[in-house]
Amino acid sequence: MSNKAEPLRSELSVSVMCADPLFVRTDLDMLIHPAVAWFHCDVMDGHFVPNLMLSTEMISALKAAYSVPLDIHLMVEKPEAMLSWFPFGPGDMVSIHYESTPHVPRALDMIRERGAKPALALNPATPLECCRELLADIDALLLMTINPGYAGQRMVTNALDKIARARAMLDERGYNLIPIEVDGNCSLQNIPLMEEAGANIFVAGTSSVFSAEHGIERGLVETVGRLRYKGV
Ligand code: DX5
Ligand code: ZN
Repeated sequence: MSNKAEPLRSELSVSVMCADPLFVRTDLDMLIHPAVAWFHCDVMDGHFVPNLMLSTEMISALKAAYSVPLDIHLMVEKPEAMLSWFPFGPGDMVSIHYESTPHVPRALDMIRERGAKPALALNPATPLECCRELLADIDALLLMTINPGYAGQRMVTNALDKIARARAMLDERGYNLIPIEVDGNCSLQNIPLMEEAGANIFVAGTSSVFSAEHGIERGLVETVGRLRYKGV
C-alpha cells in the first residue's frame, strides 16, 4: 500500500567520527536537537574499508552517556562475528553491508533478536537488485553516497538516481515505511536533492554540521533548515 501523500519524517544521524576526537562530548552536546534522531557510529576494520574507526569502548561510552539512539554502521568483514561486541538494544539501529558476508539474513536476524532495527547498507557499485529478497528482513536501507572509508569525499555520480530507484522499488513492493538512509557528502546543497529523490535519514558529517566553514551550532541550524519534512 502506498502512502505517498505523507512522506516519512526526515531525520539527521550525526556522524560521531567527524567530531573533534579531543572534544567529542563537547561537540555532541551541541547537537542534541529534535531533528537529530541518531548518533551515527562508523565502525571500520581496516579490511572491508581502508581505515580504522570507532572502538567498542567509544560506542559503549556514547550509549551510557546519551539517550539519543545509536545508528551503528558496521563496515567490517563478517559482521555477524562482531555483533556481540557492541552495546545496542531496542531503539538502536545497526546496519551491515550486503558485500561484507555471505550470511546477510543471519546477521540481520541477530540484530532483530536483540530488539534493534536491522538495516542493510549498499556500497555505490552494488546493484539495488541484491536487496529484493531481503526487504521483509530490514527496517532501513542505507545507501552509501560515497565510497566508504573516509569523511570529506564528494558524492558519487549515481547517488541521486539510485536513491530514486530505491524509493520506487520500496514503494512498489509495499515497503513505503522503510526509510532510506544516505551516508556521505550530505551537504547543505545535496540534502534537498537527496530528500527530493526519496532519502529520509541523512548522515551529518563534515559536509554539514561539522563543516569547517562555520561552528557546530550554526551548522546544525543551517542543516535542519535544509530538511523539508522534518516534522519538528
Ligand atoms: C562513512 C562516514 C562518512 C562521514 C560522512 O561511513 O559516515 O560518510 O562520516 O561525512 P561527510 O561525507 O560529510 O564528511
Ligand atoms: Zn557511516
